[in-house]
Amino acid sequence: MKVAVLGAAGGIGQALALLLKTQLPAGSKLSLYDIAPVTPGVAVDLSHIPTAVDVKGFAGEDPTPALEGADVVLISAGVARKPGMDRSDLFNINAGIVRNLIEKVASTCPKALVGIITNPVNTTVAIAAEVLKKAGVYDKNRLFGVTTLDVIRSETFIAEAKGVDVEQVKINVIGGHSGVTILPLLSQVEGVSFSDEEVANLTTRIQNAGTEVVEAKAGGGSATLSMGQAACRFGMSLVKGLQGESGVIECAYVDGGSEHAEFFAQPVLLGKNGVEEVLAYGDVSEFEANARDAMLDTLKGDIKLGVEFVG
Ligand code: NAD
Ligand code: LMR
Repeated sequence: MKVAVLGAAGGIGQALALLLKTQLPAGSKLSLYDIAPVTPGVAVDLSHIPTAVDVKGFAGEDPTPALEGADVVLISAGVARKPGMDRSDLFNINAGIVRNLIEKVASTCPKALVGIITNPVNTTVAIAAEVLKKAGVYDKNRLFGVTTLDVIRSETFIAEAKGVDVEQVKINVIGGHSGVTILPLLSQVEGVSFSDEEVANLTTRIQNAGTEVVEAKAGGGSATLSMGQAACRFGMSLVKGLQGESGVIECAYVDGGSEHAEFFAQPVLLGKNGVEEVLAYGDVSEFEANARDAMLDTLKGDIKLGVEFVG
């Protein structure tokens, strides 16, 4: 199993690489790429950790050597928010970065499962799909927007609010990954119930959790450590699916034939070819149905921006 991390010298990339070095199955290869010259050094640093995961680092303009033979590619290359910015403000810089990296994925490892972390995810995933289509290698079952941070935040905040064991909290978060497009399905959480006020407050907190971190870091970036954990959980689930483990389910932003939008985050069953099956997200409350319907114009606009960018 070879996992490549693009953007590996960054805040997310380094945290993710550390977690993968300690969690990937023995015999795996971890390939780190970033334009930053420090990247081979990050790999040397990680290589001193005693696990049977081989780490190599690549810097410079060309990600090709890092991508050769990759089964999974996780992309966190790009700029992060500062206070006062929306994720859409990152589009001007990150759109081109994702386009260029995906062109290399298309030519080097077109069968890899690709997880996009770089914001704005609602748009960068659409960009990636268009680039892969142009290259004639698009497989909708192999492309994912990584929305796992919304899931782990929801699990954490619910456990805190209700005083329950966080290990027992399971939740679907549907839609996309920004503001109102993030919709935690609180009505489905087993073993707890929420008042209308709690639902409104928790939903808003989960939707604004990224901004909570951006403001707390006061100009020093956005979530990196929690995102490293989220990306590792998602990346490990991709690996488990590829290895034939059964019952591996994660919410992700996929081109899954949703009735709502071309890309929509919902639970997917992972397997040897990526998405094995897009699962129904289940019954929703009236509040959730209204929030879902109200997000769709925003989500579709974000997707359109990505499609038009590639043109
Ligand atoms: P960072 O600035 O710490 O790291 C980004 C890294 O990307 C840097 O090391 C930089 O050198 C590298 N980079 C820039 N252009 C590159 C290129 N063309 N090829 C390879 N590497 C390149 O930022 P970060 O905090 O790690 O965040 C990275 C991205 O992830 C941002 O866009 C951020 O908004 C996004 N993010 C997404 C989620 C999510 O839930 N999906 C969560 C947090 C952050
Ligand atoms: C997050 O949710 O923390 C990320 O998308 C980063 C951000 O800009 O909020």
